[in-house]
Amino acid sequence: MNKKVEAILNEQVSKEAYSSHLYLAMASWAENEGFPGTAQWLYVQADEERMHMLKFVKYINDRGGKAVLPEIKKPPMKFAGVKSMFEEVLKHERYISDSINEIVFLCAQEKDFTTHNWVQWFVTEQIEEETNARTILDKLKLLGETNMYLFDRDIFAMRSATPDTTAGGEA
Ligand SMILES: [Fe+2]
Ligand SMILES: [Fe+2]
Repeated sequence: MNKKVEAILNEQVSKEAYSSHLYLAMASWAENEGFPGTAQWLYVQADEERMHMLKFVKYINDRGGKAVLPEIKKPPMKFAGVKSMFEEVLKHERYISDSINEIVFLCAQEKDFTTHNWVQWFVTEQIEEETNARTILDKLKLLGETNMYLFDRDIFAMRSATPDTTAGGEA
């Protein structure tokens, strides 16, 4: 496997691991603050991010590279509120989308068309991830932070209504 591509994929392993950790921290905070629906959404999201990490690990190894498991930075454990927390989620997903785009760019530059093709799944996934975060923020704007009970019930329904994309986990 191309060394530069291997290195950038391993960076992504680290970023997905941190994403999972970050959403787990948010889930835990939401649970303690009395937002069970929000917590549930974030717990599932944390699992999805771990699945993303696994996809990168397996792909690197399958292609003859060596996956490197990172040390994971401690995520923040306190958040100012549900809305600002989801603003963080959107910001983080945009950052991840940028880094996926960097992978696409490097693959083209290095003429690694196999990885270029493989990573398209993540390009599509990131569109969905950003849309989900935006939909939630729109709901929060609509309801205002005064009706958090309704929001929390709603977000719970959102997760159970959406078919679980993590189920297959096919790499
Ligand atoms: Fe991810
Ligand atoms: Fe994500």
